[in-house]
Amino acid sequence: MAYSEKVIDHYENPRNVGSFEKTDISIGTGMVGAPACGDVMKLQIKVNEQGIIEDAKFKTYGCGSAIASSSLITEWVKGKTVDEAQTIKNTQIAEELALPPVKIHCSVLAEDAIKAAVKDYKEKHGQ
Ligand code: FES
Ligand code: FES
Repeated sequence: MAYSEKVIDHYENPRNVGSFEKTDISIGTGMVGAPACGDVMKLQIKVNEQGIIEDAKFKTYGCGSAIASSSLITEWVKGKTVDEAQTIKNTQIAEELALPPVKIHCSVLAEDAIKAAVKDYKEKHGQ
């Protein structure tokens, strides 16, 4: 299978790999798995008092497309509000990375992970 240059770039130079302290009140954590292949993605956001995502980190145990999708989405969410981050669609990721059809579920994982991270953050803040 031919991967796009963007996938290879994010795979070889992943942005924002790592993790934050889960119990920190400013952190939202999303952990999701892909039933199709068993890959797991953990995505975390660090939100400031204005509700803006200042930083994001991920750890993905999965294929190159899943790593590239999580790397890309951590870049995209920075500077966005949590509500804006929730509206990112996997189709935007798949398009940006030119993912082939069999790899679409890898981008779904990133969408699900950011939604779960926002949900966790909001729950921590009683929203
Ligand atoms: Fe997910 Fe290969 S199927 S890593
Ligand atoms: Fe399953 Fe990419 S996340 S093959």
